[in-house]
Amino acid sequence: MSAEPIVRARDIRIWYGTTRGPVKAVDGVSFSVGKAEILGLVGESGSGKSTLGRGLLGLLPDGAAMDGELTFEGVDLLAATPKQRFAYRGTHLGMIFQEPLTRLNPLMRISEHFSETLKTHEPSISKAEIERRSLEVLRVMGIPPSRFSSYPHEFSGGMRQRLMIALALVLRPAFVVADEPTTALDVLVEAQIIKILHDLRNSFDTSLLLITHNLGIIAEACDRVAVMYAGQIVEIGAVDKVFADPQHPYTRELLRSTISLSTTALHSIPGAPPDLVDPPTGCAFHPRCPDALAICAVTRPIAYARDGGAPRSGSTDVACWVASAKSGTVTLTPAEAAPLPREELADADEA
Ligand SMILES: Nc1ncnc2c1ncn2[C@@H]1O[C@H](COP(=O)(O)OP(=O)(O)O)[C@@H](O)[C@H]1O
Ligand code: SF4
Ligand SMILES: [Mg+2]
Repeated sequence: MSAEPIVRARDIRIWYGTTRGPVKAVDGVSFSVGKAEILGLVGESGSGKSTLGRGLLGLLPDGAAMDGELTFEGVDLLAATPKQRFAYRGTHLGMIFQEPLTRLNPLMRISEHFSETLKTHEPSISKAEIERRSLEVLRVMGIPPSRFSSYPHEFSGGMRQRLMIALALVLRPAFVVADEPTTALDVLVEAQIIKILHDLRNSFDTSLLLITHNLGIIAEACDRVAVMYAGQIVEIGAVDKVFADPQHPYTRELLRSTISLSTTALHSIPGAPPDLVDPPTGCAFHPRCPDALAICAVTRPIAYARDGGAPRSGSTDVACWVASAKSGTVTLTPAEAAPLPREELADADEA
């Protein structure tokens, strides 16, 4: 078991400034990712997954603000200068984006993409070394060396996706964020991507944050899973434990959709995700939660009661009053533990 995590995030908050006020896209998130570990991140659309992934890599758009603590192999990334951050990005931190075609230049051969990527970060690299490094990572991605001089349009969608992954990996980042890498792909290609993610870890010791809607992919590819709701991680733990015995009502609702590779959409939960300019008081899930108690509408549940989601700790961390009371972590007064009156639930739903 490796002691020091690759990435350690503590109380990360990310806002977008808008005319309606700040959008609290990430609202107090803490977790760690261990060496060669794959952490899945799942949650409804708009829950802040992409914002968190981009924030970890320093790729937020103008107008976004971020605070909290973020260390990469013990180095404080939020205190780093823009220049230091650029040096880290690519060589230590990588990102795999959603739409491969928009990121590949149709006028550039694959070899030129690799050459440009490598030279940006390693200006003195030799031509022979560029070829050696590129072919090595293409081989892991299952792309034959004979295709090195081809253009992007000469590849299938699945192969272009793998090219994007290869381009992110040729710099040998220790930590990669993959944001919905399979959304546009069919089931067969998804199975290939899962194999590739495993090969990656085995070949390069890469740690991954894998953002996906697909619970089947999480089950197949990930070691741990973090469930995000309204900018917060509501449950995090080993995939087998969380999926077999979810503690948070939101996780339970999500899992009501069948866990299989053909599951591309999440089970739809009654009610709508909250407006992140003005999220609900207390537990953000309370207007939609079938188990809500009186305290849930007033006080935010104490998160991560056990160990802050340390890598491979084996424990599950849950931010839910009912789960905490059940496990004995907190004791609620009878008034706090009274069921939340139904009309409040209905009102909140309409609001
Ligand atoms: N550039 C932006 N400006 C303002 N709000 C944004 C911006 N990007 C995302 N958001 C808002 O932040 C919230 C989280 O979005 P996002 O991180 O994309 O969620 P997810 O990836 O889970 O779908 C949403 O309410 C979204 O509308
Ligand atoms: S804290 Fe309350 S409202 Fe939130 S998930 Fe738990 S039971 Fe439901
Ligand atoms: Mg997203």
